Amino acid sequence: MQKNVLDTDLSGKVAVVTGAGGVLCSAFAKVLARAGAKVALLDLNEEAAASFAAEINAEGGVARAYKCNVLDKAACYAVADAVAADLGPCDILVNGAGGNNPRATTDHEYYMPGDIDADTKSFFDLEPEGVEFVFNLNFLGTLLPTQAFARQMVGRTGCNILNISSMNAYTPLTKIPAYSGAKAAVSNFTQWLAVHFSKAGIRVNAIAPGFFATKQNAALLFNPDGTPTARTGKILAATPMGRFGDAETELAGAVLFLLNEKAASFITGVCIPIDGGFSAYSGV
Ligand SMILES: NC(=O)c1ccc[n+]([C@@H]2O[C@H](COP(=O)([O-])OP(=O)(O)OC[C@H]3O[C@@H](n4cnc5c(N)ncnc54)[C@H](O)[C@@H]3O)[C@@H](O)[C@H]2O)c1
Repeated sequence: MQKNVLDTDLSGKVAVVTGAGGVLCSAFAKVLARAGAKVALLDLNEEAAASFAAEINAEGGVARAYKCNVLDKAACYAVADAVAADLGPCDILVNGAGGNNPRATTDHEYYMPGDIDADTKSFFDLEPEGVEFVFNLNFLGTLLPTQAFARQMVGRTGCNILNISSMNAYTPLTKIPAYSGAKAAVSNFTQWLAVHFSKAGIRVNAIAPGFFATKQNAALLFNPDGTPTARTGKILAATPMGRFGDAETELAGAVLFLLNEKAASFITGVCIPIDGGFSAYSGV
């Protein structure tokens, strides 16, 4: 009998994951290693990347950590050379480094009369540097590693790029205008790259994670007695499935599917929401 088409086997592939010292991307690195790929874990925080690489190697996988600032083009190119020398040319790039910054976040959801003069960070207090930081990290931080690693993919078969967008790319979340706009740009760029590389044997897709409970954010989501915080209550009310996703298990399927050369061979330029229905729900 034929095997299930989604038995993703990445043996012999070299996968590069940026932001791999972080919560979601360290989990992606493990998923790719368990599927057989040799994994390069890139992060500004080399120590964090190295500790996850060590965990993968201890499990019997092949992983190596590299310090890399995804906003430094020369550094991206240098790391791309190092990865190629150590592990081989890159087949899979996961552009995971990204995130928001308090400097690009308003204190309140809504502008209220008087806020402009109040001791609160309103829309009018956002400085260009904070907004620029978030746009650069998410958009340029996807573009520059793609330039560095896609050079190793062109002209070969079975190569893939996976970008990480977000729920707020569809409808912006309150308080975080720059992060929302930057992730919308990442979704848009995913389509652009998919078209641009369509003749070069490189598929380019994205996932848009919704809300995931992790050890790191549990204290923000729940009160010490286990009851949801006010913000958690709003998130859960806006999530038709009524719960958070599990970062360890509920992103892996979409990642492996999009990278699977048999199951997803004709899929490029899509962004899959993984959000328990959040992006589909109007609230009514
Ligand atoms: N956590 C969520 O619920 C969620 C939801 C939607 C989208 N995302 C996106 O998923 C991705 C991973 O998120 P996460 O929650 O794991 O974040 P995280 O903060 O845990 O990890 C991000 C990692 O990126 C690294 N990094 C930051 N700036 C860098 C730079 N200039 N160069 C190289 N590395 C750099 C950090 O050191 C960190 O290890 C991000 O793109 C994020 O925007 C996360």
